[in-house]
Amino acid sequence: MLEATLRPSSLSEYIGQSTIKGHLIVYMEAAKKRNEALGHVLLHGPPGLGKTTLAHIVAKEMQAQIRITAGPAIEKPGDLASLLTNLQKGDLLFIDEIHRLRPQVEEMLYSAMEDHCLDLVIGKGPSARSMRIDLQPFTLIGATTKVASISAPLRDRFIHNFKLSFYTDPEMQLIVERTAGILNVAFDTGAAFRIATSARATPRIANRLVRAIRDFAQVNDESLISLGRVDKTLNELGIDSDGLDRTDRIVLQTIIEKFAGGPVGLSTLAASTGEEEESLEDVYEPYLLQCGYLQRTPKGRMVTERAYQKMNMKMPANAQGKMFA
Ligand code: ADE
Repeated sequence: MLEATLRPSSLSEYIGQSTIKGHLIVYMEAAKKRNEALGHVLLHGPPGLGKTTLAHIVAKEMQAQIRITAGPAIEKPGDLASLLTNLQKGDLLFIDEIHRLRPQVEEMLYSAMEDHCLDLVIGKGPSARSMRIDLQPFTLIGATTKVASISAPLRDRFIHNFKLSFYTDPEMQLIVERTAGILNVAFDTGAAFRIATSARATPRIANRLVRAIRDFAQVNDESLISLGRVDKTLNELGIDSDGLDRTDRIVLQTIIEKFAGGPVGLSTLAASTGEEEESLEDVYEPYLLQCGYLQRTPKGRMVTERAYQKMNMKMPANAQGKMFA
């Protein structure tokens, strides 16, 4: 897989998220010294910020095997039992989208996380028996874009809870330069920074942009990527100077034009923009909130004055009052 080659394989190569890295270094070293499995880790935050990458790095640094799965992929308690009983001491189980575990599976995970054992019910009806299986000490790494959807009993069983944040511009620039180095791409002055600031503060998007810009440069026989080439490609991809894409702008425009700036509920906004509620909530909103274009209120989503400026529209006088209502 191409993307995997861009993934940093150690914490020292991993740019940004410095608090998380600092804490992980301590917890991993302590676990190693005690010859124990690392405590269960919950990673949450918007998509593309490096949750899976961190899980791979932890596995490598703990010299452990990692099994990768996702909440919806574990259909029955038996599927989870088979994953867990195959783990060796200190191994990692990575469950992506852990907020989407089926309730029966989630319940079974509780005793696995807490007591390293599984209580299985064999058979049905009067002849059903329960059986306890001991597990090797393991580390569960759960990842989610929706931490609020995780039940309290599950959340409380994670020892370490890390929230990944959007990356700063200088961090993004380092990531773009690192990716360019790996892909053998040479940038002219300003080009890397322009990509860095157009990637929604998200490394996955930056890496995608570097690849796209490299392709556009390649077909035009350009060996050095100029700022002009970056701008042309971003324009081609519908990405503006703040890194907002067409959908981001449609969201802002819809709230302004169809809902007088809001508030508007998520399902209404999804229907009006033709986007899924889940992608609006997980992918688009976090960055629009971070940039200060959007606000979440108890009555729904509202655009801010900044959003009107961004969309070159005048904020109606009554919209100001609604914002503080
Ligand atoms: N590629 C994707 N995320 C990264 C990060 N945080 N550091 C370095 N390279 C990356």
